[in-house]
Amino acid sequence: MSTLRSMLGAAALASLALTLGACFGSANSEESRNPPDRPTEEENCEAKGKNDEIRLALAPACEGCHLTGNKPFFASLTSFESGLVYNEKYVKRGDPENSMLIQLLKGVAPGSYPQMPPGQPYSELIANGRVTLTIDKVEAWIRDLPAPPAELETPAPGEFTVRRLSAEEMVVSLMAQLGLTLEDFVSTSATDWRDSAYIVAGGRFFVWPGDWSPGISGQYISDSRTIERFEALGGGNSLVYRKKDANFGPSAGQALVQMSQAWCARAVDKSGNKAVLRHVTLADTSAKNPDAVQKNLRSLYLRMLGQPPSEAEAQALYTQVYLPLEAQNTRLAWIGTCAALVRHPLWITY
Ligand code: HEC
Repeated sequence: MSTLRSMLGAAALASLALTLGACFGSANSEESRNPPDRPTEEENCEAKGKNDEIRLALAPACEGCHLTGNKPFFASLTSFESGLVYNEKYVKRGDPENSMLIQLLKGVAPGSYPQMPPGQPYSELIANGRVTLTIDKVEAWIRDLPAPPAELETPAPGEFTVRRLSAEEMVVSLMAQLGLTLEDFVSTSATDWRDSAYIVAGGRFFVWPGDWSPGISGQYISDSRTIERFEALGGGNSLVYRKKDANFGPSAGQALVQMSQAWCARAVDKSGNKAVLRHVTLADTSAKNPDAVQKNLRSLYLRMLGQPPSEAEAQALYTQVYLPLEAQNTRLAWIGTCAALVRHPLWITY
């Protein structure tokens, strides 16, 4: 198991770091613009003009709260321009002193939120290097702000924004995709088990929200980390006023790596479960029954990601994930393949 974990874990986390939010921060950090092994497909992260440069440079300070929600200024250049830059309420073209954006950065805005980000002066973020764009430069940009682009008001259906799946969505959809049910994780020995706090079996890496009824039992035989894992995955808990995390950070990545492996293993081991092993059995190897292995790999990809793989992707999954693990055994190979798909950017995002 340790080879599986280290190999897949590293690969998945590396690809996540590159894919999710890869653009943000690139305008002000040499390092993130040129990491050692970034694939070439990311030219679209280059700033598209001055407004975009400002957006990318402010993003590290702001996007944590303004990617989604009712003020998603940092979801895209279009949102930034139409919601913030060319909104007279926030930016008065040519007049930084009277622009609320500047007042917010200085912490002197009128209204209930005098400062952005709330609770931490922008100047402090500059001092500790989280952002490098100074307030002076934001002022200079507003002074010379270009006129709004002509198409600002037209709807742009192409501007879909991608967000991570919430922890709830991950738990519920992974369970369904893998053919698992609550019975696979919690004790069903009491007849009324559905109505009382779940007694979670140990060693199964169950992940469940802390504020869903009937709750998780606090008995010592119940796996008490269940709720903790859910929160690591980015989930909230209304009972303790914990907000969900809109980002996909390292702790969520780590939780998902472990969850994907444990849950895929359970799915493979569950007798009669065709979710992962649809066209093969564990007796089929790539030497003995190559067609069945290829067919299953492609159908599993489709099942998990909702689209068929390109030939290159199917090949990469086969040679880089399936085959090396098959050298140990087929069970491990399918668990690893399944887990790799759960950490695929297409699975994690919506
Ligand atoms: C920790 C979360 C958080 C961060 C980080 C943050 N904001 Fe906000 N922002 C809020 C909240 C909460 C509100 C007020 C609620 C709302 O209107 O959605 C808000 C409101 C605003 C508003 C509207 C103010 C108004 O009165 O209409 C602007 C503009 C804004 N933020 C800009 C920024 C900018 C620029 C940054 C980065 C420098 C930033 N925010 C960082 C949480 C945050």
